[in-house]
Amino acid sequence: MKLTIIGTGYVGLVTGTCFAEVGHQVICVDKDPEKIKLLLEGGMPIYEPGLDELVRKNVNAGRLQFTTSTGEGVERSDIIFIAVPTPPQPDGSVDLSFIETVSREIASSMTAYKIIVDKSTVPVKTGEKVAETINRYCKAKVDFDVVSNPEFLREGFAVGDFMKPDRVVVGVASQRPVQAMKDVYTPYNAPIVVTDINSAELIKHAANSFLALKISYINAVSVLCELSGANVQEVAAGMGMDTRIGRQFLDASLGFGGSCFPKDLSAFIKISEQLGYEFGLLKEVQKINATQMDRFVKKISETMWVLKGKKLGILGLAFKQNTDDVRMSPAIELCQRLQQEGVILRVHDPRAMDKAKAVLTDVTYVSDMNEVAEGCDALVIATEWPEFKQLDLERARKNLTHPILFDGRNLFNVDEMEKLGFLYKSIGRGQGA
Ligand code: UGA
Repeated sequence: MKLTIIGTGYVGLVTGTCFAEVGHQVICVDKDPEKIKLLLEGGMPIYEPGLDELVRKNVNAGRLQFTTSTGEGVERSDIIFIAVPTPPQPDGSVDLSFIETVSREIASSMTAYKIIVDKSTVPVKTGEKVAETINRYCKAKVDFDVVSNPEFLREGFAVGDFMKPDRVVVGVASQRPVQAMKDVYTPYNAPIVVTDINSAELIKHAANSFLALKISYINAVSVLCELSGANVQEVAAGMGMDTRIGRQFLDASLGFGGSCFPKDLSAFIKISEQLGYEFGLLKEVQKINATQMDRFVKKISETMWVLKGKKLGILGLAFKQNTDDVRMSPAIELCQRLQQEGVILRVHDPRAMDKAKAVLTDVTYVSDMNEVAEGCDALVIATEWPEFKQLDLERARKNLTHPILFDGRNLFNVDEMEKLGFLYKSIGRGQGA
């Protein structure tokens, strides 16, 4: 099928590439000429495991093309996917100006029937607005259908998530675009859930907010574990074996971050408010997440007593493993809060140091994780990169002025760390953990 994707960010580029991978003919459009130039030269604007190879493979096979022209993209395809950013506004609501601009651009280029699919995360009822806008700006007055097809990709696992989705959600206002959408997704062998547009839009916000709730729930339980002497990992394992609950997203941490959960949670609260419902449960989810960071900072400051002038090594800057993304990263927030207390930082991340440099200054960036601890008073793990489990602990212990390790991601075993001589403080594992 001939498909156009507008926006080559994390979502758009993965979507376009994974469509090409199953044989569709894909054009990716981005208004940023630098990005398109980079992609045409074989470069990658983002780090996403497995994506660069897949882009190269599909470009070489002639199935994946790049352009800055929305008109060309609209002209040459039957289905146009919108995958542009929907950033948060200061009051928590969503800025839909990119969606509106792209809708107008599509409308003014349309000369025949098109299916316009929204992939970006948007508030319920956005599809109605997109249809209204296209109607208003389409001079050719041709037929079209608007479809909501939210994405459920996790950064760092996006290619795998796209190729093997749990489900594909397709929200439609009529039956006309349904078969074409099924044809697009049939190669992925996933259940296709067809709903009305408003429900599809709600599914996305409701799903992300539920996952955020699940993390905040286990984080709240981790506080009880610290107060009672229980171990949150054992509690999560026991809870997760109930298939109605499931073990995923029950990893206690210093809080969730990223460009999705914090933003989508605020947006969902705002959307509810605008619809006349106060979603108090989700406000509590936000509060628990903020408290989790406060508790971790307090744990560090109480152990170190005076923070001013102390030198700390930080492992991890990305908002989670397998990504170079530092947007709303708990690790960056932690660094900034420690800096405010006068702490001197040596930091490392396997992938995110370049992006972190734009937001985190006055720190020493260290390229080897085993050198971070040198001359530090304590070491802190802030991101759940699996490679941190291979840290040379013996060397870290010797390099630190005092063998203190704060683990915001519970990567190590408490007993083993104590045997190695560390004062080891993690999340929700025993009293005074
Ligand atoms: C999230 C959703 O998982 C995707 O399904 C969705 O498509 C995406 O948002 C989106 O809306 O675009 P993502 O933000 O990439 O994906 O990352 P997650 O893997 O969900 O992690 C989010 C945050 O929660 C990270 O900071 C992570 O470290 C934290 N987390 C995750 C925990 O603290 N504990 C857990 O058990 C799981």
